[in-house]
Amino acid sequence: MSQKVALVTGGTGGLGTAICRSLADGGFRVVAGYNAGGNHEKAKAWQEEQRKDGYDILVAYGDVTDGESCAACIRTVEEMTGSTVDVLVNNAGITRDGQFKKMSWEQWDEVLTANLDSMFHMTRLVINPMIEKGWGRVINISSVNAQKGQFGQCNYSAAKAGIHGFTKALAQEVARKGVTVNTVSPGYIKTAMVAKIAEEIQQQICSTIPVGRFGTPEEIGRMVSFLSEEESGYITGADMSVNGGLHMH
Ligand code: CAA
Repeated sequence: MSQKVALVTGGTGGLGTAICRSLADGGFRVVAGYNAGGNHEKAKAWQEEQRKDGYDILVAYGDVTDGESCAACIRTVEEMTGSTVDVLVNNAGITRDGQFKKMSWEQWDEVLTANLDSMFHMTRLVINPMIEKGWGRVINISSVNAQKGQFGQCNYSAAKAGIHGFTKALAQEVARKGVTVNTVSPGYIKTAMVAKIAEEIQQQICSTIPVGRFGTPEEIGRMVSFLSEEESGYITGADMSVNGGLHMH
C-alpha cells in the first residue's frame, strides 16, 4: 500500500515541527505547509535541519488566510507526492493579545482570519478527496483558552472555540465516509508563541498548572499522531485536552 500523505499547516513552527516529526515517525509522507511571510529560504533551511536529524519532510508554501494560496498549496502537495491529502492538520495560528476594551478591529480580524477562516479554506480543499477515498483524518489545533477563556484573548478564544464547533459539525457529516474530524486543545506549550508573554505573567500562569510546568511540543505531536492512526477510527468529534490539568471539564 502506498504511503499516506499528511499536510501540517504552520508545519515549520514550534508545534508544527513536532507534529511533522511525530507523523513521519508514524509512517506518513509528511508535508509542512508554511507561510513564513513568503520567506522560502527560511523554509528550505528548516527542511535541511530536519534532514540532518533524519527526517525527510517536504515543504509547500501556502497562506492559510487566502483561498487561492491554499489551492496552490494543495496542488503543490499533490504534485510532489502524487497523492491527495489523507491527513490534514490545521495547526497554523497566531495571537494578537490585548484586553477587549482596547482591542482594534485589525487585532480581531487578523486572529479570526488566520485561526478560523483557515479551517474553511484548507479543509474544503481536501474533504472531497478524503470522502472519495473512504479514509481521512482532519485534526484541528485549538487551545485550552478556547475551553476556559483567557484574559487578553477575546479574539483568540473566540476563534479557537469556533474551531471545535466546526470539528463537531463536520465530524457528523463525514463519519460514515471513513473520515474522522477531531480537535486537539493544547495548554501552554514551550513555543515562541508562549515566550512572547511577559516573563512574570508566564510564571503566574505556570503556577496554576497542576502538573507544574509548561508542555513540550512533542506532547502535542504524540496526540496528533495517535488520532491519525488507523486504530483511532472510532474517535471523532472529540476535543482532546493536552494541558497538564490546567482546565478539566
Ligand atoms: N485576570 C484579571 N485581571 C488581570 C489578569 C487576569 N488573568 N491579567 C491581568 N489583569 C489585570 C492586571 O491586574 C491589570 O489591572 P490594573 O489595570 O487594575 O492594575 C490589568 O489587567 C493589566 O492591564 P494592562 O494594560 O497591562 O494590560 P493589557 O491590556 O496590555 O494586556 C495582556 C495585558 C497582554 C493581555 C497580558 O495580560 C497578557 O499577556 N496576558 C496573558 C495572555 C495569554 O495568556 N496569552 C496566551 C498566549 S499563548 C497562546 O495563546 C497559546 C495557547 O493556545 C495557550
